[in-house]
Amino acid sequence: MSVPQKVGVLGGGRMGGGIAHAFLLAGSEVVVIDQPHALGAAEAGIRRAVATSVERGTATRSRAELDDGLRVSSDRTVLADRDLVVEAIPEIPELKAATLPEVEALLGADAVLATNTSSLSIDDLAAPLARPERFLGLHFFNPVPVSTLVEVVAGAATDPALVEAAGDWVRALGKTPVTVRDAPGFASSRLGVAIALEAIRMLEQGVASAEDIDAAMVLGYKHATGPLRTTDVVGLDVRLGIAEYLHAQLGERFEPPALLREMVAAGKLGRKTGEGFFVWDRDQP
Ligand code: NAI
Repeated sequence: MSVPQKVGVLGGGRMGGGIAHAFLLAGSEVVVIDQPHALGAAEAGIRRAVATSVERGTATRSRAELDDGLRVSSDRTVLADRDLVVEAIPEIPELKAATLPEVEALLGADAVLATNTSSLSIDDLAAPLARPERFLGLHFFNPVPVSTLVEVVAGAATDPALVEAAGDWVRALGKTPVTVRDAPGFASSRLGVAIALEAIRMLEQGVASAEDIDAAMVLGYKHATGPLRTTDVVGLDVRLGIAEYLHAQLGERFEPPALLREMVAAGKLGRKTGEGFFVWDRDQP
């Protein structure tokens, strides 16, 4: 069981940085592509995470090897020699639909293109691709270094052998694959967002405080974290985007509550802005 040797990650934000870190630790040589203004932060974040893994003794490669294994660029053409490219740009359907075929056109015929989309249809994203059999969803969870689940999402055209291979890569990353047929919200986002939206509606209606709603699920149902705190960690804007998509695909039960829209409009996006349903210390891991 091993990971692909040459991995590209498109978008070095919260998820892309984590995905790059995971493949580096597992032995891949990784190139991260981002926009020029975001490259510095992306690189610094990944190198910091690598240093932390080395300090904690969770890395089997040396700091120097890991540092050498990472390159960042704003020039997508350097992806041409990659065995696997994982796309982790923002969850904007038109952006992904336009970007994926452009990236595919740079890659070799055997290369695999994966998307980390949290909700968009793999079949829709595959429609404009020349090689949909080499395309699938690899849905990592946030924060990537401590999350052990990866949904492997098979589109209608995805080669079953690729789904198998992707499961092995996930295991080689030290994580557990769950194989899901392409369906809105896959398994995790659909259930996770359903609970979160109901929790937000309960808060809106004054049923209980954010702390108590979360405590009900943590203590009563053994969830590791409550739905509101999880929404803060994921990002309220990210969750709103997924809810809007699921609302369009699956109907009324996913209609975003007004409170969620108001908080996003007010810039209360959760941990990344210091405030969401809870107040966050920005330096908190
Ligand atoms: P983010 O906003 O932290 O990162 C996105 C990155 O993409 C930014 O660094 C941005 O500069 C870069 N970018 C934008 N356009 C680009 C382009 N054309 N080419 C290259 N880079 C570009 O977003 P995040 O949270 O990392 O989300 C990325 C994807 O992962 C989305 O599809 C999201 O739905 C999915 N996801 C997010 C999770 C979360 O909890 N945040 C969990 C699982 C999946």
